[in-house]
Amino acid sequence: MNHQEQVDILKGLLALREQGRDQEMLGRVVRVPVRNYTDPHILDRELASVFTDHPLVAGHVSNVPEPGSYLLSDWNRIPYVVTRDRQGRLRAFLNQCRHRGARLVKGDEKQLKAFVCPFHNWVYDLDGSLRAITRQEDFPGVDAAEYGLKELPVAEAGGLIWIHPDPDGTLDLRSYLGRMLDDLVEFDIEKLVRYRKTKVVKNANWKLLIKTYLEGYHVPYLHRTTLSKAFRKGVLAHFEDGPHIRMSAARSNIDEILETDPESWRILDYASVYYVLFPNTFFIMHPDYVSINIFYPLAPDRTIWTHEMLYRKDDFPGEEGEAALAKRFDFTNDVVFDGEDFAVAEDVQENLRYGANDFHTLGLAEGLLAMFQQSIDDRLR
Ligand code: FES
Ligand SMILES: [Fe+2]
Repeated sequence: MNHQEQVDILKGLLALREQGRDQEMLGRVVRVPVRNYTDPHILDRELASVFTDHPLVAGHVSNVPEPGSYLLSDWNRIPYVVTRDRQGRLRAFLNQCRHRGARLVKGDEKQLKAFVCPFHNWVYDLDGSLRAITRQEDFPGVDAAEYGLKELPVAEAGGLIWIHPDPDGTLDLRSYLGRMLDDLVEFDIEKLVRYRKTKVVKNANWKLLIKTYLEGYHVPYLHRTTLSKAFRKGVLAHFEDGPHIRMSAARSNIDEILETDPESWRILDYASVYYVLFPNTFFIMHPDYVSINIFYPLAPDRTIWTHEMLYRKDDFPGEEGEAALAKRFDFTNDVVFDGEDFAVAEDVQENLRYGANDFHTLGLAEGLLAMFQQSIDDRLR
């Protein structure tokens, strides 16, 4: 996000704060049928469309810095391994041997020299080519050149690694991400490093989990004793590019900005900025660290949630830095996301069974939830 845009958003947030309201979203109440969260046919259609036709975030680039370092998929449905070949080129392969399909990499090696299958020891190079068939003489007429690992499109953009779930898909991230890519580049996401990553299963629909992030309406209540102080009288501005959504939330200190020169304004000092990177990533620019949350559906009411936290090395030096990072991670991950947002999402999911609501009613401050739902509905096949 460039400086002028940061200044414009901050001015916009100050004006909204005067009026005590969010930037207008849809301007109407929307009813979303609850079968969106329970119906296995809807999930099948989502998997066949939004989870097949679009680039997905695999993780931060620091996961795969050099030849042989690698990153494994968190979702068995698209079982990829991302690595760099000897030339340093990023590659993504299905983590499956071309002989009889055993899993090649399990995550127990620090660095790969080659892909060596644990079943019958076929060996593949880091570029995916089959280097050796064990007892080659037992495979007359089998041409190794036809047995390279199955490749998926992979690319780096904005400090993130992206894969396309369809081997024939194209990764044009410039046009896919639009202005959101400029933000990631200008925030220098590439230069950050990983602090920690967690992976857990939540008993709620993947969209219910993402939707907990898409409004500020709940903050003074659900986060009464945690976040609400930082966002007192918080207001939200938003911006969409394609199916992606950016939200900026004013923090409590935003009034102090009036005493300073706009030349020196930096949005993250006075607001948090959040992105839906469609379809399943929720990316957060906190004041001094970043959260990448990714949601992978397992069933209508079960979802893998991964949370990767990134930071700038210079901001957290030494032991004190380490302690500060641990504190931020515990607060954000355990207390707020898991203990408050997702706990309530699991409650809502369980209550869907007992049928008090055929639909959820979204008010004027919840319009972004409806926009997100609409982006999915528009793409279902
Ligand atoms: S399944 Fe990999 S070598 Fe047989
Ligand atoms: Fe929340």
